[in-house]
Amino acid sequence: DSGLKDERLFLVLDEGTTSTRAILYDDRGVRRAMSQAELTQYYPAPGWVEHDAAEIRDRTIECAREMVARAGGADRIAAIGIANQRETIVAWDRTSGEPVGRAIVWQDRRTAVQCATLRDEGHEALVSDRSGLVLDPYFSATKIAWVLANNPEARALGSRLAVGTVESWLVWNLTGGLHISDASNASRTMLMNLDSGRWDDDLLALHGVPRSILPEIVDSCGELGSTSADIFGAPIPVCGLIGDQQGAMIGQACLADGQTKATLGTGAFILSNTGDRPVRSAHRLLGTVLAQVGGKRSYALEGSIFVAGSLVQWLRDKLGIIKDASETEALARSVESSGGVTILPALSGLGAPYWRAEARAVIAGLTHGTGRAEIARAALESIAHQLDDLKTAYAGDGCPWNRLRLDGGMSANDWVAQDIADILGLGVERPHDVETTARGAAMLAAVGIGRFSSLIEAADMCGQSDRFDPVIKEDVRRARLADWHRLVAQ
Ligand code: G3P
Repeated sequence: DSGLKDERLFLVLDEGTTSTRAILYDDRGVRRAMSQAELTQYYPAPGWVEHDAAEIRDRTIECAREMVARAGGADRIAAIGIANQRETIVAWDRTSGEPVGRAIVWQDRRTAVQCATLRDEGHEALVSDRSGLVLDPYFSATKIAWVLANNPEARALGSRLAVGTVESWLVWNLTGGLHISDASNASRTMLMNLDSGRWDDDLLALHGVPRSILPEIVDSCGELGSTSADIFGAPIPVCGLIGDQQGAMIGQACLADGQTKATLGTGAFILSNTGDRPVRSAHRLLGTVLAQVGGKRSYALEGSIFVAGSLVQWLRDKLGIIKDASETEALARSVESSGGVTILPALSGLGAPYWRAEARAVIAGLTHGTGRAEIARAALESIAHQLDDLKTAYAGDGCPWNRLRLDGGMSANDWVAQDIADILGLGVERPHDVETTARGAAMLAAVGIGRFSSLIEAADMCGQSDRFDPVIKEDVRRARLADWHRLVAQ
């Protein structure tokens, strides 16, 4: 902490799916201090995933207060940047400020039937044309429609009802009632027009969502609001808002057309920069906003994999074959192969490029010789297998990967990074500090408060990387992918 109290710092609130964190950055992009709190996961029915929005608010503010105190007070913080789990929706009462019902998390599949109905009724083309997305319960729109149809308390609120994604919820609470969403988050709702960056009347009508409950769509950086003085002792400007996957893209300095990153967290999210082009995929990838700066949007093509690190958590929490996620690396190395075990990790259905909400996970190829090492190794291998499917889809869309930048907690696992290079047959780079999501939000906050004039200039905050090159034998690679494709086809 030396010198912490002598400089102006950036405070990032990185509100993820399983934990919320507050992190202090200096203007060289160095992480100076961090506070973290776990978030309770609620699984009230098969395929349902919920969070307590009040817990998100309270834990985030507690962590933030701790960091403000460490910095020496609110006047030591130049600006706040927020990066958040995307698509998850919160409904609240504008008068009391309290949530109505639990937040419905991006992983929640409860609206699979509604999505299938919309598809059967022929609305898929409209949805993908306007929003760049595919009709899947992943996105916010059908979750909001579910709340309006099934939560009488929310319906009864009438004009007092507010709905938003997690950054909206946090900003509302921090600022004492500002209702905004940045364009990167709004582009994940399935209600925003990808070309105009505004709520789309036809999409609102299709999902039965009144515009009045939604936030105003704003830039991802700038002086967007200010925290109420009572929260941190003095107001702090809120200068960056970004969906966490787009935040990681910025924190990896993937700022030029064609640059691609994969963040390995709860899920794995691949984004490829498409510059100022809002792309519509022909291979079931997603067109999405990367960021909106000075009213100008940059875009990305995204492949969303729902299960990566959460499969390892499942091995730990539900099967109990490991005590700690970090054990998987040594386990994977302890055997020469998975012994024919292949895992289809569809614990939350399958995301890109399949979009099969009803798919369920499979562990295939078990024999008497299968032990925990083979299963752990097969779990890690499933990440590279899923990425390979996306590599093919991106190439089909005319956006081939020349190299891939990895980040996120799970990329710290060297075995996984090498396996990805092997299976993709690509050079893979990994920054020394894999927490790129938060760094991206710090960069936005720094640009938003005028410390840097652009994200390109703020890329000085990004550090060095390591590189992994493919070494696998081609016949082993082919055999692995053949087993994988057989399982997916089944
Ligand atoms: O789209 C969901 C994504 O934003 C979740 O990110 O980091 O919580 O796995 P993470």
